[in-house]
Amino acid sequence: MPLVAMKPLLAAAEAKKYAVGAFNCNNMEIIQAIINAAEAEHAPVIIQASQGAIKYAGLEYIVALTRIAAEQASVPVALHLDHGTSFEQCQQCVEKGFTSVMIDGSKHSLEDNIALTKKVLAVARPAGVSVEGELGKLTGTEDDIYVSEKESMYTDPKEAKYFVEQTQVDALAIAIGTAHGQYKGEPKLDLERLSEIVKLVNVPIVLHGSSGVPDEAILEAIERGVRKVNIDTNIREHFMGALSDALKANPHELDPRKVLGPARAGATEIIREKIRLFSRGKL
Ligand code: G3H
Ligand code: 13P
Ligand code: ZN
Repeated sequence: MPLVAMKPLLAAAEAKKYAVGAFNCNNMEIIQAIINAAEAEHAPVIIQASQGAIKYAGLEYIVALTRIAAEQASVPVALHLDHGTSFEQCQQCVEKGFTSVMIDGSKHSLEDNIALTKKVLAVARPAGVSVEGELGKLTGTEDDIYVSEKESMYTDPKEAKYFVEQTQVDALAIAIGTAHGQYKGEPKLDLERLSEIVKLVNVPIVLHGSSGVPDEAILEAIERGVRKVNIDTNIREHFMGALSDALKANPHELDPRKVLGPARAGATEIIREKIRLFSRGKL
């Protein structure tokens, strides 16, 4: 079927209290891995591309590959811009066929973030494209900062309420202790803060930096109201792990398909596992 917007996928997840997996892609093999996993699990899925992925693969390639993948699939598929930082980038994705965009204005002041998010909504809504906003700052796992300092970057529940009232975004990304990339230790999520935000905010909540968060914490976050879970690093680990194993087994391999095939299969397996975890048997 054609690509669908993200909003109805998250509404269906809210109705049954599960979360939709949002998986980052960089190339054809990863797009295929995401679709193969979603098909195998009979699950709706969000394929997302960062600005870096768009720069690497090309905007048109990402849209064309994902469109084909969705058209051949029996499950609903949304194509989402991950961490768009400018109005222009979001507008371009809307025009070129993305069905959802994230405008990450989290580095701006609250009022500037609201203004930027509204500007994106003004071009996205008429095109039927969903919009995710972000409030609060995620750290990198390599950022050596104190816990108290980290907490000051967490999403303030009252600000979240105000942000959503002002913007009417379709989904809100929050900071509650997760980070992008591989964790050094075990992340500790501020689940009380999550519950407080869910109580005050009436749109689906998005958890970023979810690779490396223990399964129990992911389940607890979904239990408390997270409806979109972003995964990138786990895919990279499994894709590159399988690629590296294939190359080690055959250091002089000349046929890219012989190493990219296993890499795609490795990525598919971890995505299937994540989908099963996020859907909690509720699909
Ligand atoms: O949230 C960040 C994603 O993992 C994308 O990372 O900018 O390296 O493509 P990237
Ligand atoms: P991870 O790479 O930590 O899974 O984060 C993914 C993400 O949040 C993409 O926006
Ligand atoms: Zn993210």
